[in-house]
Amino acid sequence: MADTILVYFSKDGENYFPGGIKEIKEGNCKLLAKEIIKSLGIPSFEIVPEQPYPNGYQACVKQAALEEKNKDYPTYKEDVSIDGYKNIVLLFPCWMGTYPRLIAAFLKNHDLKNKNILPIVSNEGSGLGHSLKDLKDNTPANILSGIEFKGHEVAKRSDEIVASIAKLMEGSAL
Ligand SMILES: Cc1cc2nc3c(=O)[nH]c(=O)nc-3n(C[C@H](O)[C@H](O)[C@H](O)COP(=O)(O)O)c2cc1C
Repeated sequence: MADTILVYFSKDGENYFPGGIKEIKEGNCKLLAKEIIKSLGIPSFEIVPEQPYPNGYQACVKQAALEEKNKDYPTYKEDVSIDGYKNIVLLFPCWMGTYPRLIAAFLKNHDLKNKNILPIVSNEGSGLGHSLKDLKDNTPANILSGIEFKGHEVAKRSDEIVASIAKLMEGSAL
């Protein structure tokens, strides 16, 4: 358990939900991150962009699409050393069918050789998208089968996802 860190990114404000755009105080991944931290007591690191993403959903999609097209590496506040950890629970929203470029920046800034990454991906229809393939193509880490959940179902799914992480940790797959 001491070997595992939760690394996550989440956006509050306007987001897409079935039925339309809704304003939320805390992002879906952040809500799940809190449950993981509370239940498993593992250390965590939130990737906070230096320049906050636009609050508006459409403006944010426009920016995310541009970052994805340009393969940008947006900067983020602070950083964490992952040297002491073997396993990274990597929690992020699916953006443009894959991980946000902010996650790409985190991955680029760290030595991921001999690390296990468990991707956990919130989404509203794309599932894991092509994030697993992109992680495999762009990092030397061992990428475990990911877990996906619909953002609007986070409250319903969190116990089960926490239990899956705990099981992987017990079975030393993590
Ligand atoms: C910029 C942006 C791009 C998105 N792209 C996708 C997508 O490609 N596929 C999908 O299913 N959902 C997409 N979504 C919806 C989010 O993945 C979903 O709402 C997720 O639960 C948000 O998590 P968060 O609240 O932690 O940021 C997108 C949302 C945003 C803001």
